[in-house]
Amino acid sequence: MRWINYDSKLALLLVLLLSVSTRIKASSEDGEFNQCEHIVKKWASSSLDSEINEDKHILRDLLYFLHVPRTGGRTYYYCFLKRLYANSSECPRSYDRLRLDPRKPDCRLLVTHDDYSVMSKLPREKTSVVTILRDPIDRVFSTYEFSVEVAARFLVHPNLTSALRMTGRLRAKTRGGVSTLDIWPWKYLVPWMREDLFSRREARRRKGWPSIYGDDPYDMEDVVMPLHKYINDPIAQEIVHNGATYQIAGLTNNSYLAESHEVRHCIQKYQPLGEYVLDVAKKRLDNMLYVGLTENHRESATMFANVVGAQAISKFAGSNSRKGLVANSIPGQSSLIPDIDPDSNYHLSNSTYPKPGKFSSTDTVEATNEDMTTRKLMEGYETCISSLRSTQSQRRANSLKNIRPANFTKEARRRISKVLLQEITSLNYLDVELYKYAQGIFANQQQYAMPTKVGEENLVNMFKKPYGAPSWSVLSISLSIFLFLLFIILYLNARRRISKIKL
Ligand SMILES: *[C@@H]1O[C@H](CO)[C@@H](O)[C@H](O)[C@H]1NC(C)=O
Ligand SMILES: *[C@@H]1O[C@H](CO)[C@@H](O)[C@H](O)[C@H]1NC(C)=O
Ligand SMILES: *[C@@H]1O[C@H](CO)[C@@H](O)[C@H](O)[C@H]1NC(C)=O
Ligand SMILES: *[C@@H]1O[C@H](CO)[C@@H](O)[C@H](O)[C@H]1NC(C)=O
Ligand SMILES: *[C@@H]1O[C@H](CO)[C@@H](O)[C@H](O)[C@H]1NC(C)=O
Repeated sequence: MRWINYDSKLALLLVLLLSVSTRIKASSEDGEFNQCEHIVKKWASSSLDSEINEDKHILRDLLYFLHVPRTGGRTYYYCFLKRLYANSSECPRSYDRLRLDPRKPDCRLLVTHDDYSVMSKLPREKTSVVTILRDPIDRVFSTYEFSVEVAARFLVHPNLTSALRMTGRLRAKTRGGVSTLDIWPWKYLVPWMREDLFSRREARRRKGWPSIYGDDPYDMEDVVMPLHKYINDPIAQEIVHNGATYQIAGLTNNSYLAESHEVRHCIQKYQPLGEYVLDVAKKRLDNMLYVGLTENHRESATMFANVVGAQAISKFAGSNSRKGLVANSIPGQSSLIPDIDPDSNYHLSNSTYPKPGKFSSTDTVEATNEDMTTRKLMEGYETCISSLRSTQSQRRANSLKNIRPANFTKEARRRISKVLLQEITSLNYLDVELYKYAQGIFANQQQYAMPTKVGEENLVNMFKKPYGAPSWSVLSISLSIFLFLLFIILYLNARRRISKIKL
């Protein structure tokens, strides 16, 4: 009897100990959540505070193009902005190396993958922001394929050591050039994929090149990292998923904001806190001069010409200096090599890799400042973009040859399982929401920016007049006042709650 008693006492003690320890664990987790919530809330309110709510429809002195990777922003850069802004008015190092160079305080155009936190380095009240968003699933596919595409170019070398040595040498020769490997997020994604491609090839070599089975390029383990592996890797978690939301919120791992890493990690740990980030990102989209959608490409480009193009034309044509407007810049002639996404092939010899196609003379907008119109801008854009696209697809085809039989085709993409698509969707829960929101903005914008059919008339005039829809600004002012009041109320409420807790 006694030993049973003893045993049950021990059991009781164990149960007690266990419950205490789990309670301690639970409360420390609670504490961590509370701390995270506090950090995220504090960041969100200070971010919303610094937003400027003046008339967002006016193109201000500095245009900041927040380029979310794989949304097609580069075509806007080469085919619109390069025509509207002189090379000399670009902010130095925009695009190539991130981190702004403040040597040129009067620059007018900044096109970059830098996240929104770069605004802390810019004259906020003089800056207009534009961006383009893309369906999150397509963006993830495109990010994966582009990582593979760029990395596969290195496979022309016999091994990784030799690839790296050649790259280093060519880089030293072409100092000042732009390489994908300098650009966030590719500077992380490409080397990672490159190492992976070489090791898979090495493994096949050791096995005597066994034949490859299966016809799904997204799941061809012997040749290339499968998509399902890519999306679940910590690197992808860190810089691919919800990338658009983080970039617009200013919370990428490339942020200027000191607390960004802490905030991002809190959100990655506690999904519900994502709501705060989403709120900040939405508010910022609201305040942008223009929001385009990759999917609605034609309408987006036309709208860009009408909203940004027309204002840039009238702004610079009106000023005495002609420096601001270049009607005839040809992308192929600039020191940068045109590509739909930033890239340079200088890490390979040009014999293995053809130079991007020549731009035909017809894509030059032969116009003076005075008769440059949005219609001409659009016409030039069409030719420019088709040229860029053919260059791009040629590059892609050449690169994918190196990972045969894997080939990312539209048919293969259609065969992707629903489960995998669902997984990508849930990994990108913030971007899915933000994209829906952007679609709403886009629809509104379309009503606002294009009240009539875009005809032959010079649309520049439309923007020389004061804005035709006063109800809009009234609406936006009253909405801002309302939001401000709401914010104050919430803030006071939160403070009251906090002080209660302290008591
Ligand atoms: C890599 O390739 C180069 C050039 O063919 C060769 O000299 C070198 O030994 C190779 N290195 C390794 C580690 O296989
Ligand atoms: C950003 O993410 C990459 C990939 O995970 C990582 O290697 C790098 O250290 C990160 N940078 C910062 C500043 O955290
Ligand atoms: C464009 O301007 C930058 C400096 O802002 C200069 O370094 C570069 O050479 C210029 N490129 C061309 C093609 O004029
Ligand atoms: C590119 O190719 C041409 C001839 O095909 C050659 O003369 C030139 O040196 C090459 N340039 C580089 C950077 O390899
Ligand atoms: C990949 O597919 C495209 C489109 O079907 C085709 O044009 C291309 O030749 C293929 N590339 C390779 C390396 O098989």
